[in-house]
Amino acid sequence: MADSPLYNALRRHLSLGRSSFHTPGHKNAFLPKDLLSLDLTELPDTDSLYNACGPILEAEQNAAQLFGAKRTLFSSDGCTLCIQTMLRLACPEKGKVLCSRRIHRSAVNAMALLGLEPVWVKPEELLLYLHSPVQVNACYVTSPDYYGRVLNIAALAEACKEKGIPLLVDNAHGSHLAFTNPDLHPLHLGASMTADSVHKTLGVLTGGALLQIGDEQFLKNAKSAMALFGSTSPSYPIMASIDLTVKWLSEHPDAFESVEEAISKLKEKAASLSIPSISDDPTRLTLDASSHGYSGQELAEFLRKNGVEPEMADSRYCVLIATPWNQPEDFERVEKALELFSELPQKEAPPSDSDLPELSELPPVVLPLREAVLSENHELAVEDSVGAICAEAACPCPPGIPIVMPGELILPEAASLLKDYGFSTVKVL
Ligand SMILES: Cc1ncc(COP(=O)(O)O)c(C=O)c1O
Repeated sequence: MADSPLYNALRRHLSLGRSSFHTPGHKNAFLPKDLLSLDLTELPDTDSLYNACGPILEAEQNAAQLFGAKRTLFSSDGCTLCIQTMLRLACPEKGKVLCSRRIHRSAVNAMALLGLEPVWVKPEELLLYLHSPVQVNACYVTSPDYYGRVLNIAALAEACKEKGIPLLVDNAHGSHLAFTNPDLHPLHLGASMTADSVHKTLGVLTGGALLQIGDEQFLKNAKSAMALFGSTSPSYPIMASIDLTVKWLSEHPDAFESVEEAISKLKEKAASLSIPSISDDPTRLTLDASSHGYSGQELAEFLRKNGVEPEMADSRYCVLIATPWNQPEDFERVEKALELFSELPQKEAPPSDSDLPELSELPPVVLPLREAVLSENHELAVEDSVGAICAEAACPCPPGIPIVMPGELILPEAASLLKDYGFSTVKVL
């Protein structure tokens, strides 16, 4: 008889009893266990996502009220669907998008499918470009990023307003920022639309996300834009979990206070052990293991051995996501593990003394994004790829930020960075 390898792996993982500092935000401790029995479909009394006029519309309106949006749309196809929808609403075909280079591959794919032309800019140069005569239809950024670092959204929103273009924010990691102090939710800082992965940091089942619309002009076509990409079989348990989370947050507006307090204590503890942390998000712990000469991956492995499962790690940082559904003993475990980590013998040479490895210069774009993604491609060894045109966003996942974008020329620096990230091959034209 066939085994059930995935199901077994999931059960085995749960039996380890680790404290969850990864997504989903509900930490398997919030939602009612009977969600399975609510796995229904579009029936006369259950409404229909893309033609919502009953309980789904009402639930979306409750969410809009909670987040202070003009309109909020549910997605059970992740934040990816919300990103596709934002870009579709804001730009005509062949439109140009001023894009922070540090964006998730879902946006790259969406722009390719929609035939949009990204104008890649380093995040720190966005304001400069917005104040220049560059002609674009929208500005697209990710904030906060995987590490919990935020951009100056208020300044970007102001500059976009002056230019008469919408600011679109991938807020996948920041839906909870509407409930923290200070309120760093990009919608409240002037963004025109945000895509919120509510399954990452709120109580929602994996796949649940919200498109938050702050700008009147995007209301009319929002549902049809989402229907262009969305599955025709949205998950009712996921949508119900959004509905339940919205209700719970309305009743517990201070839910993140204790999380902020616990993370603030852990940041202080880490600092006292000479382990710096870098997140602007008061609920996220992004630890720099290089201070002790270790990689983020080594710290992550150490945490696992001490009963803590982090969200992700790279050559320098280890990221922990905390939500109201973490228990006090979870934070105690992290504290103990950090004490033990700090007692490990200091390694001599830190593995990385720079910040996150990135290209120093953006490569030349030699082919439109859509053409590069949809043309015939082949795989090439990274060391042989210098001078070729990239055909697929090559990104370590997580964090899912491409090193080389489709349509760009692969230069020696990019090839070397790909090698550092462990890529042996890359798709080229
Ligand atoms: C920054 C960022 N944006 C977008 C996404 C896509 O979100 P989802 O997985 O909900 O579709 C992710 C996923 O990890 C992400 O990290």
